[in-house]
Amino acid sequence: MRRQTIYRVYPSKILLAESFARELATDIRKTERRKNPYTIALSGGTTPVHLFTQLADKYSKIIDWRKVKIFWVDERCVAPEDSESNYGMTRKVLLDRIDIPSVNVFRMKGEADPVSEAERYAEVIAEHTRKRNKLPYLDTVLLGMGEDGHTASIFPGNDGLLRSKKICDTALHPLTGQRRITLTGKIINNAKSIVFIVTGNSKAGIVEMIYNRGKTIKKYPAAHIRSQTGITKWLLDDEAGKFII
Ligand code: 6PG
Repeated sequence: MRRQTIYRVYPSKILLAESFARELATDIRKTERRKNPYTIALSGGTTPVHLFTQLADKYSKIIDWRKVKIFWVDERCVAPEDSESNYGMTRKVLLDRIDIPSVNVFRMKGEADPVSEAERYAEVIAEHTRKRNKLPYLDTVLLGMGEDGHTASIFPGNDGLLRSKKICDTALHPLTGQRRITLTGKIINNAKSIVFIVTGNSKAGIVEMIYNRGKTIKKYPAAHIRSQTGITKWLLDDEAGKFII
Protein backbone atom coordinates (compact mmCIF):
# COMPACT_ATOMS: atom_id res chain seq x y z
CA MET A 1 0.00 0.00 0.00
CA ARG A 2 1.59 3.31 -0.98
CA ARG A 3 1.75 6.13 1.56
CA GLN A 4 -0.78 8.88 1.12
CA THR A 5 -2.33 11.69 3.11
CA ILE A 6 -5.86 12.87 2.48
CA TYR A 7 -7.93 15.70 3.93
CA ARG A 8 -11.72 15.70 4.04
CA VAL A 9 -13.89 18.56 5.28
CA TYR A 10 -17.44 17.71 6.38
CA PRO A 11 -20.36 20.14 6.81
CA SER A 12 -20.57 19.29 10.51
CA LYS A 13 -18.95 17.13 13.20
CA ILE A 14 -22.06 14.93 13.31
CA LEU A 15 -21.91 14.26 9.54
CA LEU A 16 -18.17 13.59 9.94
CA ALA A 17 -18.88 11.05 12.68
CA GLU A 18 -21.67 9.39 10.68
CA SER A 19 -19.49 9.10 7.59
CA PHE A 20 -16.40 7.78 9.35
CA ALA A 21 -18.39 5.33 11.48
CA ARG A 22 -19.71 3.84 8.23
CA GLU A 23 -16.20 3.80 6.72
CA LEU A 24 -14.70 2.18 9.81
CA ALA A 25 -17.45 -0.45 9.97
CA THR A 26 -16.82 -1.30 6.30
CA ASP A 27 -13.07 -1.50 6.95
CA ILE A 28 -13.58 -3.82 9.94
CA ARG A 29 -16.06 -6.04 8.13
CA LYS A 30 -13.60 -6.53 5.27
CA THR A 31 -11.20 -8.19 7.72
CA GLU A 32 -13.70 -10.41 9.53
CA ARG A 33 -12.56 -13.52 7.65
CA ARG A 34 -8.92 -12.70 8.40
CA LYS A 35 -7.18 -14.84 11.01
CA ASN A 36 -5.93 -11.78 12.91
CA PRO A 37 -8.52 -9.56 14.56
CA TYR A 38 -8.81 -5.92 13.49
CA THR A 39 -6.68 -3.81 15.80
CA ILE A 40 -7.58 -0.22 16.58
CA ALA A 41 -6.08 2.24 19.08
CA LEU A 42 -8.45 4.94 20.30
CA SER A 43 -7.76 8.45 21.50
CA GLY A 44 -9.65 10.19 24.23
CA GLY A 45 -10.72 13.76 24.83
CA THR A 46 -14.09 15.00 23.65
CA THR A 47 -13.91 14.72 19.85
CA PRO A 48 -14.29 10.93 19.57
CA VAL A 49 -17.59 10.94 21.53
CA HIS A 50 -19.64 11.58 18.38
CA LEU A 51 -17.92 8.73 16.53
CA PHE A 52 -18.26 6.31 19.45
CA THR A 53 -21.96 7.22 19.75
CA GLN A 54 -22.50 6.51 16.05
CA LEU A 55 -20.71 3.16 16.36
CA ALA A 56 -22.81 2.16 19.37
CA ASP A 57 -26.09 3.44 17.88
CA LYS A 58 -25.74 1.98 14.39
CA TYR A 59 -23.05 -0.72 14.32
CA SER A 60 -23.31 -2.58 17.63
CA LYS A 61 -24.92 -5.53 15.81
CA ILE A 62 -23.38 -4.99 12.37
CA ILE A 63 -19.76 -5.26 13.39
CA ASP A 64 -18.61 -8.64 14.76
CA TRP A 65 -16.80 -7.16 17.75
CA ARG A 66 -15.30 -10.60 18.53
CA LYS A 67 -13.02 -9.87 15.59
CA VAL A 68 -11.88 -6.48 16.94
CA LYS A 69 -9.18 -5.68 19.50
CA ILE A 70 -9.36 -2.25 21.11
CA PHE A 71 -6.29 -0.45 22.50
CA TRP A 72 -5.71 3.10 23.63
CA VAL A 73 -3.38 5.68 22.12
CA ASP A 74 -3.00 7.39 25.47
CA GLU A 75 -4.49 7.65 28.93
CA ARG A 76 -4.56 10.10 31.75
CA CYS A 77 -3.00 8.73 34.94
CA VAL A 78 -6.27 8.57 36.81
CA ALA A 79 -8.61 5.75 37.87
CA PRO A 80 -11.01 4.43 35.23
CA GLU A 81 -13.96 5.90 37.17
CA ASP A 82 -12.43 9.38 37.03
CA SER A 83 -14.20 11.82 34.67
CA GLU A 84 -10.82 12.45 33.05
CA SER A 85 -10.32 8.79 32.08
CA ASN A 86 -10.23 8.09 28.34
CA TYR A 87 -11.13 4.47 29.04
CA GLY A 88 -13.99 5.57 31.33
CA MET A 89 -15.44 7.79 28.60
CA THR A 90 -15.11 5.04 25.99
CA ARG A 91 -16.71 2.46 28.29
CA LYS A 92 -19.69 4.71 28.92
CA VAL A 93 -20.24 5.84 25.32
CA LEU A 94 -19.24 2.72 23.41
CA LEU A 95 -17.99 -0.39 25.24
CA ASP A 96 -21.04 -0.78 27.50
CA ARG A 97 -23.25 -0.65 24.39
CA ILE A 98 -21.55 -3.25 22.16
CA ASP A 99 -20.94 -7.00 22.56
CA ILE A 100 -17.19 -6.96 22.64
CA PRO A 101 -15.48 -9.70 24.66
CA SER A 102 -13.61 -8.18 27.61
CA VAL A 103 -10.48 -10.06 26.50
CA ASN A 104 -10.50 -7.89 23.36
CA VAL A 105 -10.34 -4.63 25.33
CA PHE A 106 -6.84 -3.63 26.40
CA ARG A 107 -7.05 -0.59 28.62
CA MET A 108 -4.10 1.41 29.84
CA LYS A 109 -4.29 1.28 33.64
CA GLY A 110 -4.33 4.94 34.55
CA GLU A 111 -4.41 4.06 38.22
CA ALA A 112 -1.09 2.20 38.07
CA ASP A 113 2.43 3.57 38.41
CA PRO A 114 2.95 5.35 35.05
CA VAL A 115 6.45 4.02 34.34
CA SER A 116 5.52 0.41 35.13
CA GLU A 117 2.25 0.70 33.21
CA ALA A 118 3.99 2.10 30.12
CA GLU A 119 6.31 -0.91 30.21
CA ARG A 120 3.43 -3.33 30.76
CA TYR A 121 1.35 -1.79 28.00
CA ALA A 122 4.23 -1.95 25.55
CA GLU A 123 4.29 -5.73 26.16
CA VAL A 124 0.52 -5.92 25.69
CA ILE A 125 0.71 -4.12 22.34
CA ALA A 126 3.66 -6.27 21.22
CA GLU A 127 1.83 -9.47 22.18
CA HIS A 128 -1.53 -8.67 20.60
CA THR A 129 -0.67 -7.01 17.30
CA ARG A 130 0.75 -8.06 13.97
CA LYS A 131 4.23 -6.80 13.13
CA ARG A 132 5.58 -4.77 10.24
CA ASN A 133 9.07 -3.24 10.04
CA LYS A 134 9.65 -5.28 13.23
CA LEU A 135 7.18 -2.96 15.02
CA PRO A 136 3.57 -3.43 16.17
CA TYR A 137 1.33 -2.85 13.14
CA LEU A 138 -2.11 -1.56 14.09
CA ASP A 139 -4.84 -1.51 11.49
CA THR A 140 -6.04 1.91 12.62
CA VAL A 141 -4.90 4.58 15.04
CA LEU A 142 -7.53 7.19 15.81
CA LEU A 143 -6.09 10.55 16.85
CA GLY A 144 -7.28 13.98 17.91
CA MET A 145 -5.26 17.15 17.98
CA GLY A 146 -5.06 19.70 20.77
CA GLU A 147 -5.12 23.47 20.27
CA ASP A 148 -1.34 23.43 20.76
CA GLY A 149 -0.83 20.86 18.01
CA HIS A 150 -0.30 17.92 20.39
CA THR A 151 -1.60 14.51 19.52
CA ALA A 152 -1.86 11.41 21.66
CA SER A 153 -0.05 12.67 24.76
CA ILE A 154 2.89 13.92 22.75
CA PHE A 155 3.02 17.60 23.60
CA PRO A 156 5.08 20.39 22.00
CA GLY A 157 8.66 20.32 23.27
CA ASN A 158 8.52 16.58 23.97
CA ASP A 159 9.78 15.48 20.57
CA GLY A 160 11.67 12.65 22.25
CA LEU A 161 8.37 10.76 22.22
CA LEU A 162 8.28 11.08 18.44
CA ARG A 163 11.73 9.49 18.07
CA SER A 164 11.58 7.09 21.02
CA LYS A 165 12.37 3.42 20.34
CA LYS A 166 9.85 2.53 23.06
CA ILE A 167 6.34 1.40 22.13
CA CYS A 168 4.79 3.26 25.03
CA ASP A 169 6.10 5.91 27.42
CA THR A 170 5.01 8.44 30.03
CA ALA A 171 4.34 12.15 29.51
CA LEU A 172 3.26 15.24 31.42
CA HIS A 173 0.53 17.63 30.35
CA PRO A 174 2.44 20.97 30.05
CA LEU A 175 -0.33 23.08 31.61
CA THR A 176 -1.92 20.85 34.22
CA GLY A 177 1.08 18.66 35.04
CA GLN A 178 -1.21 15.67 34.69
CA ARG A 179 0.78 12.48 34.12
CA ARG A 180 -0.05 10.56 30.99
CA ILE A 181 0.78 7.27 29.32
CA THR A 182 1.10 7.38 25.53
CA LEU A 183 2.01 5.36 22.48
CA THR A 184 5.08 6.81 20.84
CA GLY A 185 5.35 8.41 17.41
CA LYS A 186 7.14 5.42 15.85
CA ILE A 187 4.31 3.03 16.70
CA ILE A 188 1.61 5.45 15.61
CA ASN A 189 3.41 6.09 12.31
CA ASN A 190 3.74 2.34 11.70
CA ALA A 191 -0.04 1.92 11.59
CA LYS A 192 -1.74 0.90 8.37
CA SER A 193 -4.21 3.75 8.76
CA ILE A 194 -3.94 6.90 10.87
CA VAL A 195 -7.13 8.91 11.24
CA PHE A 196 -7.13 12.40 12.73
CA ILE A 197 -10.56 13.65 13.68
CA VAL A 198 -10.29 17.38 14.33
CA THR A 199 -13.20 19.74 14.90
CA GLY A 200 -13.76 23.31 16.02
CA ASN A 201 -12.59 26.78 15.04
CA SER A 202 -9.77 26.81 17.59
CA LYS A 203 -7.80 24.22 15.60
CA ALA A 204 -8.33 25.67 12.11
CA GLY A 205 -5.10 27.69 12.14
CA ILE A 206 -2.84 24.75 12.95
CA VAL A 207 -4.73 22.51 10.53
CA GLU A 208 -4.11 25.05 7.76
CA MET A 209 -0.37 25.25 8.58
CA ILE A 210 0.00 21.49 8.60
CA TYR A 211 -2.03 21.20 5.38
CA ASN A 212 0.19 23.79 3.66
CA ARG A 213 3.35 22.33 5.24
CA GLY A 214 4.19 25.75 6.68
CA LYS A 215 7.72 26.41 7.98
CA THR A 216 6.71 26.55 11.64
CA ILE A 217 4.88 23.23 11.81
CA LYS A 218 7.84 21.29 13.24
CA LYS A 219 6.86 22.45 16.73
CA TYR A 220 3.50 20.72 16.44
CA PRO A 221 3.73 17.00 17.24
CA ALA A 222 0.69 16.30 15.04
CA ALA A 223 2.72 17.52 12.05
CA HIS A 224 5.18 14.65 12.60
CA ILE A 225 2.50 12.00 12.38
CA ARG A 226 2.11 10.31 9.01
CA SER A 227 1.63 6.65 8.26
CA GLN A 228 4.86 5.10 6.95
CA THR A 229 2.96 2.06 5.78
CA GLY A 230 -0.36 3.34 4.46
CA ILE A 231 -2.86 6.15 4.67
CA THR A 232 -3.18 9.21 6.88
CA LYS A 233 -6.61 10.81 6.91
CA TRP A 234 -7.41 14.23 8.32
CA LEU A 235 -11.17 14.31 8.87
CA LEU A 236 -12.28 17.85 9.66
CA ASP A 237 -15.57 19.55 10.35
CA ASP A 238 -16.48 22.83 8.63
CA GLU A 239 -14.88 24.85 11.43
CA ALA A 240 -11.52 23.08 11.71
CA GLY A 241 -11.29 22.89 7.93
CA LYS A 242 -12.42 26.42 7.14
CA PHE A 243 -9.02 27.61 5.92
CA ILE A 244 -8.34 24.72 3.58
CA ILE A 245 -11.54 24.54 1.58
C1 6PG B 1 -6.33 12.97 25.28
C2 6PG B 1 -6.21 12.72 23.81
C3 6PG B 1 -5.65 13.95 23.16
C4 6PG B 1 -6.82 14.56 22.39
C5 6PG B 1 -6.57 15.99 22.07
C6 6PG B 1 -7.86 16.62 21.51
O1 6PG B 1 -6.08 12.06 26.07
O2 6PG B 1 -6.76 14.09 25.61
O3 6PG B 1 -5.72 11.60 23.41
O4 6PG B 1 -4.58 13.77 22.31
O5 6PG B 1 -7.02 13.79 21.21
O6 6PG B 1 -6.21 16.65 23.27
O7 6PG B 1 -8.80 16.62 22.54
P1 6PG B 1 -10.31 17.08 22.27
O8 6PG B 1 -10.91 16.02 21.40
O9 6PG B 1 -10.94 17.10 23.64
O10 6PG B 1 -10.24 18.42 21.60
